[in-house]
Amino acid sequence: MTNAANERVLVLDFGSQTAQLIARRVREQHVYCEIVRHDITAARLRELDPVGIILSGGPNSVYAPGAPQCDPELFELGVPVLGICYGMQLACKALGGEVTSCPSREYGRSHCDVVDDADLMADVPASTEVWMSHGDQVTAIAEDFSPLAKTKTCPFAAVRHKRLPIYGLQFHPEVTHTVAGKTILGNFVKHVCKASGAWRLGDFAEETINKVRETVGSSRVICGLSGGVDSAVVAALLYRAIGPQLSCILVDNGLLRKDEAAAVIDEFSRHFKTDLHVVRAEDEFLNVLAGVSDPQEKRRRIGKTFIDCFKAEALKIDDARFLAQGTLYPDVIESGAAVDGPADTIKLHHNVGGLPAELGFELIEPLRDLFKDEVRQLGLQLGLPPEIVWRHPFPGPGLAVRCLGEVTREKLAVLREADAIVVGEIQAEGLYRATSQSFAVLLPVQSVGVMGDSRTYENTVAVRSVNTDDFMTADWSHLPHELLSRISTRIINEVQGVNRVVYDISSKPPATIEWE
Ligand code: XMP
Repeated sequence: MTNAANERVLVLDFGSQTAQLIARRVREQHVYCEIVRHDITAARLRELDPVGIILSGGPNSVYAPGAPQCDPELFELGVPVLGICYGMQLACKALGGEVTSCPSREYGRSHCDVVDDADLMADVPASTEVWMSHGDQVTAIAEDFSPLAKTKTCPFAAVRHKRLPIYGLQFHPEVTHTVAGKTILGNFVKHVCKASGAWRLGDFAEETINKVRETVGSSRVICGLSGGVDSAVVAALLYRAIGPQLSCILVDNGLLRKDEAAAVIDEFSRHFKTDLHVVRAEDEFLNVLAGVSDPQEKRRRIGKTFIDCFKAEALKIDDARFLAQGTLYPDVIESGAAVDGPADTIKLHHNVGGLPAELGFELIEPLRDLFKDEVRQLGLQLGLPPEIVWRHPFPGPGLAVRCLGEVTREKLAVLREADAIVVGEIQAEGLYRATSQSFAVLLPVQSVGVMGDSRTYENTVAVRSVNTDDFMTADWSHLPHELLSRISTRIINEVQGVNRVVYDISSKPPATIEWE
């Protein structure tokens, strides 16, 4: 491990919606950052030896019964601390200040005036826009503190301790609406924490490659390929690490997007010359799906069949000891599995495509410290083509959950063509990267139409395109009307059996991204 890799900032998570964003922003400063539980002990912090500690925001009032607290000894460690919103209130209260409930919750943009442009606020314009989201605020600071910035309603928008390296911000520097947020976080990690800013994803990849080599020795590793970016990056990384000791398995379930299996096969047999096992299982999947229209039952059957197919192939591979998976950092945090991770499990995972422990392999998860956009950067660095790296996410049960009701070969063929038109047109418009997930859904709805002189009674395709950061909430993409018009015309003209196209303008919540 290099020094830069050892140099890390820890974010104590008090239940904030933006804890991951804070960590991402710190990593953008080239300082490694991890999220830990809010109640981590000072002793454990000493062991972890961070260069800085950030106390996140949170939904509670510091006075609420059972409100999450931190180990008060944390303020005596001599390690720089930045409290954000709830984190600031906690720090100020612990060190003699007063926190009071505001008459009304302050939410949104505020003008902030810098009153002291020393270290934390260096290079921040004297008047700047910040993002507030709080019910309580610090109304009195202890003598040891001094104000750094204020807004009209918030006398202590930014504060610092006079002797200790302890800072507080009532606003959220991690969100882009805080114009100088990046400067402020940069000041904290570079000037206050004195981090070298030498952490690089490339070095991380090299370290991970070395770790994988050490762990694996001369054993064989199996890696499942799905067509998605995560599994592709895992495979590319492992190929770099252990080359011929890697065996990849692609289960072609007949539910993939147009040309998807072919692209993956081409990439991993031609470019990366891996030992690639392709399981052609379309018939098997369609058989178990025949006559089933309940979405959960479809998912269950696909999940089980996937495991059966994968297992049968994996058992044919001699001397395989490890199974590589594309688990990412948000999965690790949200499942509560991170060492010192946040207390609550926030997200219920879609588990289709997951492989059970009973397969008997030891698990390696080389991406478990990375965020999705870092995985994409890494993929490009490892030489994966942009088409794979930037492909929109795709659910494990594939087109089956976009072919509403019973899944048949014929319906899948219609859906696959319509989907390729949606994606192709959005790409041609240059909007593929600006949208998060765009696809077609085949509805179990026929309607009347006219084509030429004759009456038709055919299928409906729904176009879905969403913008989202985290896939837990999403807005529908405001695509140009001309683009929607081209998509509709092409689908109706080119895809046999479709005479109507509709655009889905629901956000999540209350709708979901997928239709099933
Ligand atoms: P929803 O529809 O829940 O989707 O808003 C959120 C994200 O999860 C993907 N998704 C799945 N992924 N197996 C998966 O691997 C599934 O069963 C599944 N269902 C939804 C969805 O495509 C979106 O990116």
